[in-house]
Amino acid sequence: MSRYSFHRWRSFRVLIAFLLLVSGVSSYIYLSSRPPYTHYSSVDRFEFETSERLSHEVGKPGKYVLFKQLRGAGFNNQAQEILLYHHLALLSSRIYVYQPLVWRPRGEQSYVPLSAFLRSPTEGSLTVTFFDHVCHPDDVKHVTLSQGIGYNHVWDHALSVLNGPEKCIVVDDWILNWNYLASSAIHAIWPSFNKYLRETFTWSDKIYGIAQRASSALNLHSGANPTGNPYIALHFRRGDFEGHCHVLAERHVGFTTWATLPLLSESIYPPQLDSMNETSTMEHCYPDLSRIIDMIDDYARSRPHLRTLHILHDGAWDHPLVYMQKYRLERTLKDAARAKAKGWAGGPITTVTDSSMVPLAWGEKDWSVAVDVELARNAEFFIGNGYSSLSSQVVALRLGADGGRPEDIRFM
Ligand SMILES: *[C@@H]1O[C@H](CO)[C@@H](O)[C@H](O)[C@H]1NC(C)=O
Repeated sequence: MSRYSFHRWRSFRVLIAFLLLVSGVSSYIYLSSRPPYTHYSSVDRFEFETSERLSHEVGKPGKYVLFKQLRGAGFNNQAQEILLYHHLALLSSRIYVYQPLVWRPRGEQSYVPLSAFLRSPTEGSLTVTFFDHVCHPDDVKHVTLSQGIGYNHVWDHALSVLNGPEKCIVVDDWILNWNYLASSAIHAIWPSFNKYLRETFTWSDKIYGIAQRASSALNLHSGANPTGNPYIALHFRRGDFEGHCHVLAERHVGFTTWATLPLLSESIYPPQLDSMNETSTMEHCYPDLSRIIDMIDDYARSRPHLRTLHILHDGAWDHPLVYMQKYRLERTLKDAARAKAKGWAGGPITTVTDSSMVPLAWGEKDWSVAVDVELARNAEFFIGNGYSSLSSQVVALRLGADGGRPEDIRFM
């Protein structure tokens, strides 16, 4: 090794050590802003005890079903699937055996208890850690439900098998896979799923609590804060989405799950999406700011009472550009001269709030994504991204759980 390359090697090592230190410190800060594991352990214990009590309830010879579920991906991808599985279990009078959420922000193999986020699918259900106590191997029937069955028949076929007499059924294939959820087969499920959401959907108390605190602090209208400002919620999906949209455009992928419902076809901001046209896909998946501003103009111009905008975004220290775009959006919409020129009846937007202003206490970070969904759900008007599972979840709750109108939803 020459003297020169030795020197270079040493500075390289110093650099690596420095980078390791920085990433160590930042991941420490990042992780400690999340709920402590002791909170999750106590929720785990509660789930186990509740399941134990459930299994001992006399006079209730329960039937159970354990599904193969998505392991990974984002919170809303998992949530939408869990709600559908729970619905399927209830329809077939089986007790849903629930599994923990895979919590990527904490690392690929990290699990958090479901009831810390979604309460309804765990009520009257059994945690998977108690499954073996209730279902002895002799009682368990393993089935596959989607092989060789067209998407349009998967749901009904699943129901007919689950209606069978077996005490415990384990479904070994992933029936609600991406392709299934992207297909129009789910439209037939919507009427009953809609009712299911209205009758059962609940978040955990933590999530309701933080959402209420956010509504008061940001003065946004909600059931708990009826005097707050009525507002437009905009899901500004940026960050890593641009690359993702390019991939979707190349593969000619259309909107996701509930965003494809025919009753929402009028809610898509024109021109209509043509997934065979890559420019059209990018226009809907990653629209430029002017398109988003046009959409806000289009709705708010004639509604003078609506002068507050809440932006849900994924801006963070690793996606700083989101903040710059948010700033430009805010400056444009608050411009009085521009609002006048565009014919806004009651003047420009006066208040802009965003996800980063939600008052989270130390250790509440894991819940922020669900709080975003809740704030978008309570908005008078929602502008979402039809390619995003978060937006799709918001729309399902607005239409289903809250009986909201498609007219108050717009997809970019
Ligand atoms: C593709 O979509 C873009 C954006 O909507 C549109 O301007 C263009 O005319 C479309 N091309 C074709 C061939 O339809």
